[in-house]
Amino acid sequence: MSILVTGGAGFIGANFVLDWLARHDEPIINLDKLTYAGNLESLVSLKRDVRHSFVRGDIGDTALVGNLLAEHRPRAIINFAAESHVDRSIHGPGEFIQTNVVGTFHLLESVRAYWDGLAGDAKERFRLLHVSTDEVYGSLTNDAPAFSETNRYEPNSPYSASKAASDHLVRAYHQTYGLPVLTTNCSNNYGPYQFPEKLIPLCIVNALAGKSLPMYGDGLQVRDWLYVADHCRAIDLVLQGGLVGETYNIGGRSEKTNLHVVQTLCDILDELAPPASYHVPLTTYRSLITFVKDRPGHDRRYAMDASKVERALGWKPLETFESGLRKTVTWYLDNQRWVANVASGAYRSWIDQQYGAGA
Ligand code: NAD
Ligand code: DAU
Repeated sequence: MSILVTGGAGFIGANFVLDWLARHDEPIINLDKLTYAGNLESLVSLKRDVRHSFVRGDIGDTALVGNLLAEHRPRAIINFAAESHVDRSIHGPGEFIQTNVVGTFHLLESVRAYWDGLAGDAKERFRLLHVSTDEVYGSLTNDAPAFSETNRYEPNSPYSASKAASDHLVRAYHQTYGLPVLTTNCSNNYGPYQFPEKLIPLCIVNALAGKSLPMYGDGLQVRDWLYVADHCRAIDLVLQGGLVGETYNIGGRSEKTNLHVVQTLCDILDELAPPASYHVPLTTYRSLITFVKDRPGHDRRYAMDASKVERALGWKPLETFESGLRKTVTWYLDNQRWVANVASGAYRSWIDQQYGAGA
């Protein structure tokens, strides 16, 4: 028995692979294109672990995916692979359509052909779990109830629209072909191995370098933060016990304004890595917070009602925002080589050396 994970060299995918192999003995085939967001240094601890097979490739490559499925015959597939950064989708939406929409379509076709060829118990038990986001539901006003699974889709960025399209395709393959799918929609994740383009790691890295911490607009946009290991545990539970064809909202019940997030981050950094120890001539990192032009189409508030997954599968986050943020800051302070290799681009040279240039 094995599972196929796509996008397993990215932030959440790598955390999932590491957590899975720490908890289960079941092997993982990890298919990842290694875009700028894919980083094999995140998986270096698995170098000699025979349970982890890494394959560089595109979810949209039906020949490759078909061969992988025929060779390994996984009992489940978890699809993390995507272009994930909202700001990049605003500057260049093409790749988002290509991977998140067209890539997901090709993946679904490959999986449908594989599943059609299964029989008996293997066919009955097979699952495709598609990992998605709260952003498909659009933006909430400050007093609106949190998003539930029945909220209508109202995506506002090219990223969220491409994820919404992929969710619809996954749903359609269940309704039309009977493909046994599960979809999870999760709120903002943070934790180890997150690429420093996203708010929390960007601010950690910038603060330690004495650079400004950019706050879009008034900084009062609200996100519902969840520590990545809690998301990974939820995915594991949905895979084990989720009802085929259902969607599950996952969130930390931890709504914070961006300003609060960055101020709290600065306070933890002041304590664990005082500015003077990093040659930053300030008494607090808070002085680096700088208000900048807002993100176009910026969603004001996200909040997830996770009561379905809590009730049905007994999931609850183990970390509070404060405990998770402290763990995250500590991880970045303890793993400055990983950060430096991302910042310098050295992680790319290593990937190119191993797998050939052109990713
Ligand atoms: P990420 O950008 O860190 O990682 C994405 C990974 O997918 C990278 O390793 C990349 O190389 C790979 N990839 C991209 N295109 C590919 C392709 N065509 N074929 C194969 N691999 C490809 O993203 P993340 O933050 O880890 O997010 C993972 C998934 O979870 C995404 O689907 C995202 O929409 C979803 N999600 C993310 C968050 C969050 O806060 N980060 C929250 C909810 C849902
Ligand atoms: O909600 C889930 C989503 O969370 C995922 O689907 C996405 O893949 C993931 O990237 C994340 O999207 P956000 O746009 O919410 O994350 P980001 O870290 O880019 O931004 C968080 C908030 O902080 C958002 O309101 C924009 C703001 N921001 C972000 C950056 C990078 C700033 O104010 N300054 C910044 O420099």
